Amino acid sequence: MNNYKNNRMFHFDEISKMAPAEEGDRQRYFIEQVRTIWKQKFEDLAASGEAKERYGEAVFARLMEEGRCGTFHIATFGCQMNARDSEKLAGILDQIGLLEVDSENADFVLYNTCTVRDNANQKVYGRLGYLHTLKRKRPDMIIALCGCMMQEPTVIEKIKKSYSFVDLIFGTHNIFKLAELLERKLTAGKGIVIDIWEGTEQIVEDLPVDRKYPFKSGVNIMFGCNNFCSYCIVPYVRGRERSRKPEDIIDEIKRLVADGVVEVMLLGQNVNSYGKNLETPITFAQLLRQINEIEGLERIRFMTSHPKDLSEELIAAMRDCKKVCSHLHLPLQSGSSRILKEMNRRYTKEDYLALVERIRAAVPDISLTTDIIVGFPGETEEDFEETMDMVRKVRYDSAFTFIYSKRTGTPAAAMEDQVPEDVVKVRFDKLLKEVQAISAEVCGRDVQTVQKVLVESLDDHKDGYVTGRMENNTTVHFPGDASLIGKIVNVYLEESKGFYYMGRPV
Ligand code: 5AD
Ligand code: SF4
Repeated sequence: MNNYKNNRMFHFDEISKMAPAEEGDRQRYFIEQVRTIWKQKFEDLAASGEAKERYGEAVFARLMEEGRCGTFHIATFGCQMNARDSEKLAGILDQIGLLEVDSENADFVLYNTCTVRDNANQKVYGRLGYLHTLKRKRPDMIIALCGCMMQEPTVIEKIKKSYSFVDLIFGTHNIFKLAELLERKLTAGKGIVIDIWEGTEQIVEDLPVDRKYPFKSGVNIMFGCNNFCSYCIVPYVRGRERSRKPEDIIDEIKRLVADGVVEVMLLGQNVNSYGKNLETPITFAQLLRQINEIEGLERIRFMTSHPKDLSEELIAAMRDCKKVCSHLHLPLQSGSSRILKEMNRRYTKEDYLALVERIRAAVPDISLTTDIIVGFPGETEEDFEETMDMVRKVRYDSAFTFIYSKRTGTPAAAMEDQVPEDVVKVRFDKLLKEVQAISAEVCGRDVQTVQKVLVESLDDHKDGYVTGRMENNTTVHFPGDASLIGKIVNVYLEESKGFYYMGRPV
C-alpha cells in the first residue's frame, strides 16, 4: 500500500471521512494510517540498501531490532508546559513507530517554540537556517514547527516568505492532532500544511505520552490564562483559561503512580484560579487535598501561582498536605507598586509582602522562588530600587530575572518611555548579583540536617555518586548507584556548596 505516492490530493479527504468522530479514536486511527505510510517508506529505503547509510550502523540496528520505521527529534523551547506538550508529541511519534534521536539529522524534526521573550523567537529562526542545510541533503525530511510562537500571525507570514522549506505548522491548541496533520502532509506533497486555531474549549484526554523521566511527571491541570499582564503574550497565544476535570487529573496521576511516578508537578499558567470555569466548580486547594490522598504518590509540586489569587484556603492546604513540597514559585515581576499597576498585576508591594508573611507563618520552612522583570516601560531608578528592596526583604531561594522584552500586540509594547537598553543592562546586572548573593546564603540553611532526597540521576561529575533533589528543589550529591534512581532517600547534608549540598545517606 504505497498510495502515499499516488492520488495525493484526494487521499487525505477520503481517509478523513473514514476516520472515527470521537477525537481520541480519530487520532489513534490517524496514528495507524501514518504508521502504515512511514513503514512503507522505510521498507523501500531498506530494500534499496540506503537505510544503513542514512541512519548509521547503530541507529539502523536499533530501528530493525525494535521494528521501527524512522527517526524523530524534538527541540523544546520555553517553559514546563512546553516540556509536557513535547512528551505528548513524542508519545504520538513513538506510536507511529519512529525512534527518538538526539540529533536534528532525523526523518522528522519538530521545534516546539516559545515566544514569551523575543530572544526565544530569534533562537528558532537561527536554528531553522541549520535545518535547511540538513534538509538539502535529505529532501524527504519533514520539518514541523509548533507551540506559542506559531500562534502569532506575523511569524507565520515570515516563515511562509523566508522559510518555505518548513513542512508543517501548528499551534498550541491542537497538538493532539499531530498524526492527522502528518497524514495530511504525507498525502498532500509540496507546500506547508498550516493548522492554527485561535482558541478552543476542547481538552483531549488519553492520548499516548512518552515521559522523559520514569519517576516524575508534569500533569496539566489547566490551559491558558485570563490575566493579561500588560507585558505578556501568553494569553494571546495560549488562549483563555480552561481547567481539566478533577476526576481526569486524579485518574491520570493514579495511572502515572502505577507506572512508577512518585512526584508530580501540577502545571498551569495560573494554578490558583483552577476550577473556576468547570461545570461543578472546585478550588485548587480542594484539588490539592484530593491529590494528596493518592496512595503511592510521594511528592506534589505545582506552578505557577499568581499572588493575587493565592487564597488562605490554599495556604492551609499547603500546611496540611504532607505530600505538597514546601516550595512556592511566586512571581513578583516588580517591587514597585506603581509599575505593578502598569503591569496589570493587581497587587501592591505591600500585598505581596503580607502574603509572604502569611505563607511563612503557616509553612515556616518554605522555599520561595520568583520571576522578576527589569526595564518595564517607565521603570525609574526609584522603581528599580523598590525591586531590590523586595529581593532583600523576601530573601528568595532563587529568582529568574528577565530583561523586559517588547511583545507586539501587548499593551506594554505601545507604552511610551521604553527604558534604554544600557540602563536596563546596568540594573539587570545589579539585580542578578543581589539575587545570587542572597540565594547563596539562603540555600545553605539546611546544612547538617537530614533531608529526603529524590534521586534523579547518576552524578555527572563524580563516579560512585548520585544526584537528587530535596523537597524544596535544592540539588544534593551523595554516594550511591543507579539502583537508587527514582527512590526517596534520607540524606545527611554534610556540606553546603552555595547552590547545592554534598551529603551521605543515613
Ligand atoms: N519580557 C520579559 N519577561 C517576560 N515574562 C513574561 N513576559 C515577558 C516579557 N515580555 C516573564 C515573566 C513570567 C515569566 C514566565 O516570563 O516574569 O513570569
Ligand atoms: Fe503572562 Fe500574567 Fe498570565 Fe503569567 S499570569 S501567563 S505573566 S499574563
